[in-house]
Amino acid sequence: MTIIRAKDYNEMSRTAANIVSAQVILFPECVLGLATGDTPIGMYNQLIEWNKKGDLDFSQVKTVNLDEYIGLAKEHYQSYFWFMQQNFFNHININAKNVFLPDGLVSDTQNECARYEDRIQTLGGIDLQVLGLGHNGHIGFNEPGTVFKKKTHVVTLTERTIAANSRFFRDTEEMPKKAITMGMGTIMQAKRIVLMCAGEDKSEILYKALCGDIDPMVPASILQLHNNLTIVADDEALRLVRQDAKISNTIKIAAES
Ligand code: GLP
Repeated sequence: MTIIRAKDYNEMSRTAANIVSAQVILFPECVLGLATGDTPIGMYNQLIEWNKKGDLDFSQVKTVNLDEYIGLAKEHYQSYFWFMQQNFFNHININAKNVFLPDGLVSDTQNECARYEDRIQTLGGIDLQVLGLGHNGHIGFNEPGTVFKKKTHVVTLTERTIAANSRFFRDTEEMPKKAITMGMGTIMQAKRIVLMCAGEDKSEILYKALCGDIDPMVPASILQLHNNLTIVADDEALRLVRQDAKISNTIKIAAES
């Protein structure tokens, strides 16, 4: 595990963008696993800027997203499809045919999970997976539970996640209670994982995820077993990790702008 410490959100975003950019430059046909949420927005903005400048080409890149709400049409202002269009895909030269998310509107969601899992395998798996971290340790929508679910599956969202994400909906009742998410096995098969994390409110869960036991009640803790995991986090999110003697002197400092 490599931990890169950024001084703030902007530096975290630029550092993560540098890692994604290196992947795309070295492997123009790579498969990127992408995340939604506030955390990666700054990274997407940076990648958009480099793409517009002509320094980064997404024309052959393929993307698979972690998750999607069940019951929202693609055009719904809170669907993850819409989030990705608004915050990234509409602004870069990616081919729409190379963009994949689970479909949250199909009637047979089990079949959709199997189809999405197959799609990822057919693409050859994920070369680089970008992750955010939920306050309860969720990754994608893999919520705390008694087991790590392996493959893409339907999940019932926890009260905490519903409370956290309903702030984005005009009416909290509109917030779906279920979602389709890649499983922890799907994610762990990615050749490289970059976990992004910012803010004091994430410091406790980041500490548990990186320094605690590997526990399905903290889904992100399984990432400790990945052999190519990079954490890019800001000072605030790393507050408790930095106090852990076993890990603190391995933390790298992000390049200053
Ligand atoms: C959401 C998403 C996750 C995301 C997480 C954290 O529910 N399903 O993929 O990483 O919550 O979101 P944020 O980055 O806004 O804190």
